[in-house]
Amino acid sequence: MAKAQKNFVCSNCGAVTTKWSGRCDGCGEWNTIAEEKPLSSAGPTKKTLGGMRGKEIPLSKLSTKESPPPRTSSGLGEFDRVLGGGLVPASAILVGGDPGIGKSTLLLQAAAKFADAGLKVIYISGEEASAQVRMRAQRLGLSEAAVQLGAETNLRDILTTLEKQEPDLVIIDSIQTMWADNVESAPGSVSQVRAAAHELVTFAKTRGVSVVLVGHVTKEGQLAGPRVVEHMVDTVLYFEGERGHQFRLLRAVKNRFGPAHEIGVFEMTGDGLSEVTNPSALFLSERDQPAPGSVVFAGIEGTRPVLVEFQALVAPSPHAQARRTVVGWDGSRLAMILAVLEARCGIPFAGLDVYLNVAGGMKVSEPAADLAVAAALLSAREDAALPKDCVVFGELSLSGSLRPVGQTENRLKEAKKLGFSSAIAPAQSKAGEKSGMDMRLMSDLVGFVGEVFGA
Ligand code: TYD
Ligand code: MG
Repeated sequence: MAKAQKNFVCSNCGAVTTKWSGRCDGCGEWNTIAEEKPLSSAGPTKKTLGGMRGKEIPLSKLSTKESPPPRTSSGLGEFDRVLGGGLVPASAILVGGDPGIGKSTLLLQAAAKFADAGLKVIYISGEEASAQVRMRAQRLGLSEAAVQLGAETNLRDILTTLEKQEPDLVIIDSIQTMWADNVESAPGSVSQVRAAAHELVTFAKTRGVSVVLVGHVTKEGQLAGPRVVEHMVDTVLYFEGERGHQFRLLRAVKNRFGPAHEIGVFEMTGDGLSEVTNPSALFLSERDQPAPGSVVFAGIEGTRPVLVEFQALVAPSPHAQARRTVVGWDGSRLAMILAVLEARCGIPFAGLDVYLNVAGGMKVSEPAADLAVAAALLSAREDAALPKDCVVFGELSLSGSLRPVGQTENRLKEAKKLGFSSAIAPAQSKAGEKSGMDMRLMSDLVGFVGEVFGA
């Protein structure tokens, strides 16, 4: 008899190996690999679901005969925005986030809104008893909402219920608590999470039901993270926020039905999440006086302009190796900008500790922030503040030249709306004149340093 093969699975990315190792080759995470029983061959939980069974249909026929029903807006504007303008029927959505960040709160509120909009919504909690969910609903002022609640973890029971109830939207909180009885490993393991997600997504697609799966981000251990199911769903949203800050970002990292990188902004209050429709004002609210090291970046998140503040601190280092600490931006991009400042402008940062922070817990990934970061670093190093009414944007190349970035007009409009009157931007930036802003156009970093810091 053949020896049963051992399986080792990474709980972060789902990569399978035959040998244990401390670090996953797939995603590079440490301590995420654990042994798992191989999938049993007992077959799917349910009888085969209906469908096209391999019959091909011409695209043209599909679109004319069965035009898709319109999206449903929840009325929770920030949530709809991240979905790409409302909920698409029969879509599968994953909402990931750290435990305790507010996923259950968000989805209960969204469920109530969708129920108000006329959808039949079922909220299934595998973590809390129905009574606890009801208590939360009361706290959120949603006790009258027409949402069906269930506390269940057995996938077979859930699918049977859903088949009978024929809802429009199902929320599964969380996918890590679900277990399929045809898979031998423990709930929360990679095979269980995958099997449960697969069954639920298949159900969604064949029955025209939208499914939202909640997934906790796990740092290590046996619990599979949401990344394991990312590829199975249409839309992947991450709910993020800093502990200690009350606002939360819902970020689309993948969306088959709308723009990726779209963000929705919420504030966690005593009675639930409230929408923040003007995030720029929120991210800048802590700023009153112009301070050295503080620079406002006119950024774009998804389709919306957002102003964020970069804060830098540069101080002589007591350590043999100077520190580089970044929060809210990419560490290697910071290293690149430090190198460009040193090589092209002759401004060294050796022997200096550098701290860079994006205010308010925001995360910025746009290269257009390069110039704002360089400005913050210089401003901190020279102890000279930029004018208070000034925004900055532009991408830096390794040669030290500045590249124009997209959506200049939108960036400037947002800055003007929030009371800014001047902008430092790459030389080729169009739409500058029309904006009514005082434009200071730069073609390279050397020119920028000379003009702004007089160096
Ligand atoms: P929760 O939605 O349970 O998080 P998750 O499902 O992501 O684990 O949110 C838990 C946190 O939110 C908890 O620390 C308390 C806080 N909270 C409020 O501040 N206000 C509220 O109205 C609610 C319901 C929760
Ligand atoms: Mg929860």
